[in-house]
Amino acid sequence: MAAMERVGVVGCGQMGAGIAEVCARAGLDVVVVESNPAAAEAGRRRLETSLARAEKKGKIPDAAEVLNRIRVTESLDELADRTLVVEAIVEDEAVKTDLFRQLDKIVTAPDAVLASNTSSIPIMKLGTATERPAQVVGVHFFNPVPVLPLVELVPSLLTAPTTVDRARAFAQDALGKQAILCQDRAGFVVNALLIPFILAAIRMFESGFATREAIDEGLVRGAAHPQGPLALADLIGLDTTKAVAESLYEEFKEPLYAPPPLLARMVDAGLLGRKTGRGFYTYDRP
Ligand code: NAI
Repeated sequence: MAAMERVGVVGCGQMGAGIAEVCARAGLDVVVVESNPAAAEAGRRRLETSLARAEKKGKIPDAAEVLNRIRVTESLDELADRTLVVEAIVEDEAVKTDLFRQLDKIVTAPDAVLASNTSSIPIMKLGTATERPAQVVGVHFFNPVPVLPLVELVPSLLTAPTTVDRARAFAQDALGKQAILCQDRAGFVVNALLIPFILAAIRMFESGFATREAIDEGLVRGAAHPQGPLALADLIGLDTTKAVAESLYEEFKEPLYAPPPLLARMVDAGLLGRKTGRGFYTYDRP
């Protein structure tokens, strides 16, 4: 049963921390792996801050009790006994395939599910990096994970139906999310539509056609979006936005998916949005 899953999460950035949080809030035991001590410490702080906020808002009775179910470590070996691992590291195909190769050797349960939160990298590439592609599936959460109810489930051509069932039970029954089934194409459903829209907004800003405020206010007030596309790019992270655009462009070769030069320059400059304190807008805290 999904409620019995022993969950592992790799990466404790914006998404990994959010996934670990919703799992622990659902009563699951969670091990989170980061790449080095500084990143693990930052991940721990991220979890503490988010859970303290949830407690203050009355969403959970006791942040400390939830935090007790999460262990943050730098050792992938601690994932050995996990029944379901969700990968949420940097959106880089080579780094992710290398991780799946390692997870395949480390995670011992023969029926363990190896899931990826990738936004755009083919699940097939991750599955075939392992000896168990039938147990590899995309489980794509949305940011912020504790708030947004959607999960995209993405089987590759080699994913077994039982793996999809397990992933669905995990997302829907254990975490209370709503799942949609997507094909293994770059961007799945949501980002295949959302990313070209964000890129069009960046091109509009870059060309001087409109200010960032006019673009964002236009979409908020004129199309009832909760936030404008440039503010949304800052929330997603400009590095992730660019990486997803590149995967879409690589897959479909359509100019609408090509990252605009301004986006590339901002990423080169380390202006990654909220997580670094500056993107299209500036933020008090990362
Ligand atoms: P992030 O940059 O906030 O976090 C990535 C984390 O992974 C960092 O803390 C980094 O230290 C860690 N990491 C990198 N390599 C690692 C390794 N080998 N082992 C362990 N940890 C490692 O990025 P974010 O936004 O959390 O994105 C992560 C994944 O989630 C990406 O695949 C992205 O496409 C996907 N995603 C992102 C969304 C967003 O809105 N930012 C939404 C849905 C999916």
